[in-house]
Amino acid sequence: MPLTAKGLEGIVAAETRMSFIDGEKGVLEYVGIPIDDLARRSTFEETTFLLWNKRLPRADELAAFTADLRARYAPPGAAMKLLAGLPTSAQPMHMLRTMVSALAMFDPEPNRNDVPAARVKALNILASTPAIVAAFDRQRRGLAPVAPRADLSFAANFLYMLNGKEPTPTMARAFDACMILHADHGLNNSTFSARVVISTMSDVYSAITAAVGSLRGPLHGGANEDVMKMLNEIPTVAAAEGYIRGKLERKDKIAGFGHRVYKAYDPRATYLKTLAKQLAADTGNTPLYEKSQAIEQVMLREKAAKGIYPNVDFYSATTYHCIGLQLDLFTPMFALSRISGWSGHVIEQLEGNRLFRPDAEYIGPHAAPYTPIEQR
Ligand code: ACO
Repeated sequence: MPLTAKGLEGIVAAETRMSFIDGEKGVLEYVGIPIDDLARRSTFEETTFLLWNKRLPRADELAAFTADLRARYAPPGAAMKLLAGLPTSAQPMHMLRTMVSALAMFDPEPNRNDVPAARVKALNILASTPAIVAAFDRQRRGLAPVAPRADLSFAANFLYMLNGKEPTPTMARAFDACMILHADHGLNNSTFSARVVISTMSDVYSAITAAVGSLRGPLHGGANEDVMKMLNEIPTVAAAEGYIRGKLERKDKIAGFGHRVYKAYDPRATYLKTLAKQLAADTGNTPLYEKSQAIEQVMLREKAAKGIYPNVDFYSATTYHCIGLQLDLFTPMFALSRISGWSGHVIEQLEGNRLFRPDAEYIGPHAAPYTPIEQR
């Protein structure tokens, strides 16, 4: 009898040395280091080195890795020309998926899948996609792109290219912590998509393109935009309870809650909640944070017994809003961070590849008659 697991729940489909998740206890570690420690003490650059090399860098290694990343901040000029021709009405996730795919065409050897070449491709994609997202957002606001600055960190440089001015150290640090929290998360749907694609020995660009397509779904990374839409729909803190109860009565899912793996509080949400509270206070958005808290309280009362808690997308919405990001840039922000994890998984897959090819259980008829078309 074939084993069928709808949605592949509980199936172990790969080995990884990157992130460990204990969904019952609400634990997340990158290469054994608790996520909370990394969010407080590391940087996105260092965390990416950790995920790609399975160890923390020495100071000289981190300096070299950071310099290499910064040297690749600017996308190829021809890619920027292509970007300039895209409709400004395009949704940023569709634009990002298209542009990651397009980067392959500006690589003289797009199909090289030896691990050293794949790492360079991953570094190029990771380094250059922030400039693409920032330039696209400016383009649709009628503004010229802002060239990257190699003296700025990954997080600060993105906000600089987006807004045309350097972020405050507090904002840059908050965004950096957000990026660390979103960098990797086991064999989630988009990461699995990336590993499935690279397992055919296709190419790194195709794998990351597939992952971007997966992430934008509202059951996955797209949920952070839905959380913000929900917060905008709820007029006051007092209205939150009735709004959520109404949705639950109609059996609607509440965006930003529930997770296939976590049946306890998502540790990323714990950190983001504290960050969201602080940023909301600093930016005059406390009512927004209070609305989030009111929603959480109703959900905990109604759904904690079923293991439904806030996930990473719930408080990231308030956090991104307070950082000043447009609503439709929330999922692209998640993608820019997760390119780190997707790339690490692509490298792991290439290091010990075997083609993914599960079975489907056929549940249709057998030996059915072929009826001629005129008799149907
Ligand atoms: N609101 C209300 N009820 C929920 C929610 C929710 N957000 N999530 C799950 N449930 C309920 C379901 O209705 C179901 O109840 P039932 O057993 O009475 O039918 C039960 O919990 C199990 O839910 P499933 O959808 O079967 O769980 P699954 O593991 O397939 O889905 C998912 C997980 C997709 C994340 C789901 O919780 C969901 O849709 N959440 C909202 C969207 C969201 O926030 N996605 C982001 C996830 S994190 C990330 O990808 C980065």
